[in-house]
Amino acid sequence: MATPDEPEVHAAWLPPEAFRVLGSSRIAVYGDGDLVDTAAQEVRQACVAWGGEVAHYASRLAAGGVETFDAVLALTSWPSLPAAAESVRAEMVRGGVALGDEGFTLARRDGVTVVLAEGAAGLLYGLFHVVRLGRTAFLAGRPLEHHRPAMPLRVVDHWDNVDVHPVTGQIERGYAGGSIFWESGALRSDLTRVRPYARLLASCGVNAACVNNVNVHTTEAHLLTDRLDDVAAIARELRPYGIRAHLSVNFASPIVLGGLSTADPLDPDVRAWWTDAAKRVYELIPDFGGFVVKADSEGQPGPFAYGRSHADGANLLADALAPFGGVVHWRAFVYNHRQDWRDRTTDRARAAYDHFAPLDGSFRDNAILQVKYGPMDFQTREPVSPVIAAMPATRLAVEIQATQEYTGQQKHVCYLGPMWSEVLGFQPWGPAGRTVADVAQGGSGQGEPVGGGLVVVSNIGDDRFWTGHPLAQANLYAATRLAWDPWLDPAAILDEWIDLTFTPAETADPDVLRRTLHAMMDESWRIYERYTAPLGVGFMVRPHHHYGPDVDGYEYTPWGTYHFADRDGVGVDRTRATGTGFTGQYPAPWADVYESLDQCPDELLLFFHHVPYGHTLRCGSTVVQHIYDTHFAGVDEVLETRALWQRIEDADLVAPDLYTRVRELLDEQVRCAEEWRDQINAYFFRKSGVPDAHGRQIF
Ligand code: GCU
Repeated sequence: MATPDEPEVHAAWLPPEAFRVLGSSRIAVYGDGDLVDTAAQEVRQACVAWGGEVAHYASRLAAGGVETFDAVLALTSWPSLPAAAESVRAEMVRGGVALGDEGFTLARRDGVTVVLAEGAAGLLYGLFHVVRLGRTAFLAGRPLEHHRPAMPLRVVDHWDNVDVHPVTGQIERGYAGGSIFWESGALRSDLTRVRPYARLLASCGVNAACVNNVNVHTTEAHLLTDRLDDVAAIARELRPYGIRAHLSVNFASPIVLGGLSTADPLDPDVRAWWTDAAKRVYELIPDFGGFVVKADSEGQPGPFAYGRSHADGANLLADALAPFGGVVHWRAFVYNHRQDWRDRTTDRARAAYDHFAPLDGSFRDNAILQVKYGPMDFQTREPVSPVIAAMPATRLAVEIQATQEYTGQQKHVCYLGPMWSEVLGFQPWGPAGRTVADVAQGGSGQGEPVGGGLVVVSNIGDDRFWTGHPLAQANLYAATRLAWDPWLDPAAILDEWIDLTFTPAETADPDVLRRTLHAMMDESWRIYERYTAPLGVGFMVRPHHHYGPDVDGYEYTPWGTYHFADRDGVGVDRTRATGTGFTGQYPAPWADVYESLDQCPDELLLFFHHVPYGHTLRCGSTVVQHIYDTHFAGVDEVLETRALWQRIEDADLVAPDLYTRVRELLDEQVRCAEEWRDQINAYFFRKSGVPDAHGRQIF
């Protein structure tokens, strides 16, 4: 995407400036192994840039180097450490602290900042935490803090194709240029973006990346066998930052690649084929993470063809991977995409639960059921998927979409941290119960399996700002930070991202950039919601590419995404009393809250109920007046967002090319938001005949 007059700088978080405090200090690193080397190398680079000193004791016998340190980063197993670190270690031992491979302890004692970790990955994460804290990591006294990732697996899924697909392109639902892995049918000759990407991810705690699209077409299927070298090459670039490569595989591989006549999961030849395939993968990539499978979904092959269940399918691959410690991420996104729109009994929202809930308890320990956060498909607003509460005996991962397929396609400012935070904090069993984050974390101790973690559909490409819209970087940052700690406040995450990304020129008002970005981004998801599909009804997007409004675009299609607007009302009746019965898939209290017209939250009303336009919402407005009001307000707020950015330029606070990119995209956001407003308002005015109470212009 870079034009000749744009510098080839890959602007993102962690520019050299972010390491200024660390790099101007005296740092000692104690430990050996590849990830410790990576950490030491990070420190070394920072010290070269900012004049600090580093000593890396990689051999247990080595000594010497700088005498006094501002910070010590060490493996707890190291025989002898400087006094401050020794005393922190002793306190940990006294307290019986167990950090696991990925955790770390941070303290500041006797003028030394101490990071101790049991595993090298923990040391690397601890280093990045110190970078994140900046100056505050080096301020007086800090009691011991123990940090461990909430989610065992913190995954980015790439929907990158190897071949440029005639419909979906190089990256399916990609809005940031080409793939950093693949180009026109081949592995990129230049993989130089992969390691910096791994570094960005590792700084947020990501430990796994799937390198190809969940839709595995013919060329991509071969990555498992004769093109495995390509995967190994990517894995080599990810490895120094502790990220394991995963691969999406085609369920019909034994036929497509192995020449067998069947892919039946219970067929002995099929089982032998997968066992052998997995063995070969591990011969070449010993730290390979596992497979991702989209089966019986949107045309991808699966076990249904053989009359087998999805547990049979998932367990086949789980068994092949088990000897090597691999996992299979089996996606729950299974529904009939060839529905007859005339059929009012079939409800796409029900599909995943109907298919998977009866299978709870029949999946292997290394099979992870990967569930989209909502029952439909990454809409701006959906209820949390009932599958998440229905599988207590299954390892379950929650899938969220950083790539903004339905949320503005990285042309609109739409910071999704607040949405994901709501989803992860949702309590499917009511206020006294566990949260979605607890389920993804797993291992509560009551026989519950360890969790499958959080999976983030990546939003990056070879764009020089990584994400097309420079502010969309915050979505990748937030999604991956929430995988580490789902309880972080999305506004605080935004602060982290701002501090690690921008190095504004000195101004009279040092906080102006932070304030402006918060004003533009904190509410941006809700603003986007206001000017697009109303009250949780979803879709209303242009078919296929999903950008911009088309109220009836999907109404008479086989995709199962309907709003049922007529002259009297709008919404999908998913109640048990008169509708599809979907509300019954929730445990109490939500089964009753969603069933009840009075109790159902406004923002989800049309997801669960078909109501007349004159229906009064909990907020006091009628449905149709609310639609008009929110759509006018949403556009006004986008105009305000654009005006805020204008002031950034006046204050000269960000790089000129970044400024220009955002400004151009804001113009597009305004145009598109106005289009949404006018189409939605016109549509509902024409259907209902109800005028706007405030007499504003409706076409
Ligand atoms: C959506 C998206 C597809 C994607 C699918 C999936 O339907 O539009 O491009 O393949 O989700 O998650 O599998």
